[in-house]
This record gives sequence, structure tokens and C-alpha cells, in this order.
Amino acid sequence: MRFLLSYIFTFLLLTQSALAQNIQSLPSFIRAQSQTPILHEGGRVQPVYSQNGMVVTADKIASEVGREILAKGGNAVDAAIAVAFTMAVTMPRAGNLGGGGFMMVYDAKTKTTRAIDYREKAPIKATADMFLDRQGNVDEKVARFSHKSAGVPGTVRGLELAYKLYATQEWADLVDPAIYYASKGLTVSKSLSDSIKKKAEHLWKSFPARDVFFKGRSFYEAGDNLVQKDLARTLVEIATKGADAFYEGDTAIRIAVDMKKNGGLITMEDLKKYQAVLRDPVVGYYRGYKVVSMPPPSSGGVHLVQMLKTLNNFPIKSEHWGAGTADTMHVMAESMKRAYADRAKYLGDPDYVKVPVKALTSDLYANRTAEGISLGSATPSELIEAGRFLPDESPQTTHFTIVDKWGNVVTNTYTLNFSYGSGHMVEGTGILLNNEMDDFVAKKGVANAYGLVGNDKNAIESEKRPLSSMTPTLLFDEKDNFYMALGSPGGSRIITAVLNVIMNVIDHDMNLAEAIVAPRMHHQWMPDIIEVEEGYSLDTLKLLQARGHSIKEVPPMGAVMAVMKLGDAYVGFADTRRFDAKASYLEENTQPIVQGVRFTPQDVYDVFE
Ligand code: DON
Repeated sequence: MRFLLSYIFTFLLLTQSALAQNIQSLPSFIRAQSQTPILHEGGRVQPVYSQNGMVVTADKIASEVGREILAKGGNAVDAAIAVAFTMAVTMPRAGNLGGGGFMMVYDAKTKTTRAIDYREKAPIKATADMFLDRQGNVDEKVARFSHKSAGVPGTVRGLELAYKLYATQEWADLVDPAIYYASKGLTVSKSLSDSIKKKAEHLWKSFPARDVFFKGRSFYEAGDNLVQKDLARTLVEIATKGADAFYEGDTAIRIAVDMKKNGGLITMEDLKKYQAVLRDPVVGYYRGYKVVSMPPPSSGGVHLVQMLKTLNNFPIKSEHWGAGTADTMHVMAESMKRAYADRAKYLGDPDYVKVPVKALTSDLYANRTAEGISLGSATPSELIEAGRFLPDESPQTTHFTIVDKWGNVVTNTYTLNFSYGSGHMVEGTGILLNNEMDDFVAKKGVANAYGLVGNDKNAIESEKRPLSSMTPTLLFDEKDNFYMALGSPGGSRIITAVLNVIMNVIDHDMNLAEAIVAPRMHHQWMPDIIEVEEGYSLDTLKLLQARGHSIKEVPPMGAVMAVMKLGDAYVGFADTRRFDAKASYLEENTQPIVQGVRFTPQDVYDVFE
């Protein structure tokens, strides 16, 4: 009996401690279930966890819409299309129908990744000197705030291409949530209200935008209901007639008429000719991980891979280096400035100019670059190549990352360029126009709004795509299994925001939330300054100054929305640098909240009333 009791006692003890050990051995962050960072387990900020899919966006309404599509059985692409249409309504400063972007899709079944390029194109009538005044100087007002600033929008064709390649749900059902929020209205958040106030001067000048974004002579405040009837009507057209409604139908006519009336260049022919295209992703390896990112006309993938490969040459993981040390920050800054110098020289639309992608992303070039980096002192940017810097204009773009229960992943960045683009709205459509034409080089040696310079490779040409920095990216482990997907807004700082987060995960063993929350640094060759967010040690910054770096503390850079694979499940985190950001995830039995389509014949009737 005594023997039996002691056996039971020992058994209980063992299983108890095995259980405890099991729980202990689970990384603490896989036990978190909430979006907002929770500080627990030693004060570590935590991502959310799900085995059933998640949607990480900068806008909580859009995240919930995406989650709903997944709950209805849609895949990651279905959810991405619904999210992108919704954000055109709920986050109008960046979400859009009148802009463009890049979508990377990982298909878990075939283990392949495709890059969809739906970047805007210069109108047919665009010319190299279209933004120069009589003295030959760049007229920034025309380049950034006129109807001429708009490239031919790509978003609707891009979403259509993704739909044709991957979607499983009805097209109209994916446009439907956007129609719902445009016609019934959305509750204005503080950040939406603030963003309208910030851009008020420009939005007020456009009568259609004034009608939508102002309550008579006052502002929309948090908690108000914002209805966008014209936008709802445009969305109903797209839902019922497809993307052709935008490019060849009623919406196209309205855009062309508006352009003609206001000195813009986009015509019916431009819209009809526009096509989204598939590109071969840029691929490179960093410490054994495969990095798959956006190729030209984005500069993002090329320079991300180039910088990572250069950094591969330094012992960043070793105990004397690590996160936020002067050594690590020094080699990051030196790699960044060299990559951005190359950006100015070599990058442009691959349909128009030869971009040496292979050479720029080769091991040989990266190793040579690394050899040229002196550990003891900064190389002045002037010695690398010349350029000029102009200050930023309040920028906005948005990134979202989605994974479904089958393991398909979408990582998408799209934009109007500035917050609310040029501020012009096309009459009768609710569509805000992008000002992506400013991403071209208007004049050699003259910087664009992000301080980026360039040469003929990125000069304006008829139907050419302007160079971008948007960097939707995926990583795969040594066995070629999906590891991580991420991206960010931030203009020229997009590429380095993605780089910072990748290094935080791979080199510094941070969990995804920590990696995203940690302070970031950026160098873009010109100006010759390391920009740092608040949070680095003052001692480190002094050490960097001693090596010859200039340091400037800047407001938060980028807003990374990311998902990572962890065992059989996923963790996700929405950057807390965006107030409305949210990672919405599915539990095992998550049911759709709304059964069937949301927009009823009555809604449509209301819209056309
Ligand atoms: O394509 C580009 O690189 C820019 N038009 C992106 C602008 C941007 O990220 C503004 N965001 N915060």
C-alpha cells in the first residue's frame, strides 16, 4: 500500500512538473491572446497568437473586416481584397482606389510567391520636364498638389489581378464591407479626425473633398459618423460591374472629365490601357533565411537584400555587438548610406531602364561594400556620391499582412503617396487622387518630398512607373518554410524600417512585438545623418558621434504590420506607432459575425437616392 501511495505521489509530482515545464518551455508570447501589447512575463511586450488565421492592419475596422472574410471561409487574398477596399473608406489618407501599390502573395499549396505590381503609371502625355517652371526649376506645387501630380491609378486593377489568380469568394462580397462603411458611415476615430485637420488646407481647396471631409465649416471629431455617398456609389459600380467600371465605365469618364477641367493629364485612354503586372520577386539570403521581396519599380527589395547581405559580414549576433550598440548601429548606417547612394544611381522602372538587380544583390558586391566600411569611423556621404535633401511632407501609406488557416500569406503596401494624396477628389466619385508623380526625378539632383535624389533612370516618361520604396517582404527558413511577412509605410524610411525589424528578430532574438516596438534608426545617404527614434542609449549615440556620425532624433518612423510562423501557429503584431492599428485573429471556432452579404438592396437604394 505504502509502495502504491508513494508511486501515485511520485507520478503526480512528475506529471505536474512536466506540465509546468511544458508551459515554461512555450515561448511566453504564444500565450498572449490580445492585440494591444500586454506587458507580462518579465515585462516583455507580446504579439497575438492564432492557429486559424489573422489580419494585421493599421485600421481596426479593416482588420475586423478581414477577419470576417476569413471566418466565412475566405482565404488570405479574399481577405486582402476586402481589407484594401475597406481602407479606401475607413482610412482615406492612405487606403485608396485612386493610388497604387504592391502585393506579395505566398501560396502555401505550391510554395510559391508572386509579386503583383499595381504601381501608378505616368499618363501618356507626361514629359520629363512637366514639373519645371520657366526658369527650369522644379515647381513643387505642380509636382505635389496639382491634378498633374496624379499617376494613372493601379489599385483596382491590382486587386482584380489578385482576385483572378487566387480568390475563392464572390467579388461583390469582397467590396461589400467597403460599401457598407461608405454608405452607412463610420465612426470617426481620433486619428482620422487629426489627419483631416492636418491636411485641411489642401482638402478644403477641392470642393468634392470639402463636401466629404468637413461638416459645413467645422471639423469631424472623434465619435462623429462620416458618410461617403459618392464613394459608396463608385464602390457599388465596382462591385457589380468589376474593375472595368473604374477603368472604362462611368468612373473612368468622371476621372477623365475632372482631369480635363483641372489641367490634369489622365485620359480615358490612360485608364483603359492601365494593367497590373506580375513581377519576379527579388530573392537573397540573410543568415540562412531566404528573403523574398518586391522588385523594381520598387527599390525596396533590392536594397533590403543588399543591406542585409552587407550586414551578413559583421558579427552582429555576437555578445559584444547586439541590439542598439554603437558597433551594430555604425555598420547599419554605413550599409544604409551605400545602398541609398545606389538607389539614386541605378534604380528605375525596369520596363524602361536597365536595373542591375543581380549585381546590386550579389554576394560579391555586398562583401566588397562591407570591406569598404571602416569600423572606426563614418565615411562622409559626400565621398560616396552627391545629393541634396529637402524636408518631409507629412507622409502616409499603409501596409497590411494577412495569413489564413491554410498558410497562405498576403503582405501588401499601397498608397496615395502623401496623406490624402494631392488632396484633390474627383467630382462625383469620392476618389482621392494620388500624387505619386513626385516619386519621379523632376530634375536631376533635386530631391523629392522624401529627400530622395536620382537621375535619368527615374526621369518622367510617358507610361513609366515612378520608383518606389515600398517593401512588402516575406522570409523563409532553411527548410523553405514560411517564417515571417512584413512591410511598412514611411516613404524613404520604409526599407530601413523593414531591415530594423528583420534584424531584431534574426540577430537579436526579440519576439515579434519587441522587434516592432523597439526604436529604429535610418540613414539614406543624403542627408548624411543617422535618424533615430527616441529610446536609444545616450552613451551609444555619443559613441557614434565620436566615430563621425551626425545624429538626429526624429518622430516615429514607419508602422510595421507583421506575421510570423511559430511551430504550428502564427504570431502577429500591429505596430503601436499607429493608433488604430490592430491584429485581429481567429480562434478555432470563430464564426462570421454577419451572415451573408452586408450591403442590402436598401443600402444601394440609399446610395443612389
Ligand atoms: O512609393 C513610395 O516610395 C512612396 N510614394 C511611399 C510614400 C509613403 O510611404 C508615405 N508614408 N508614410
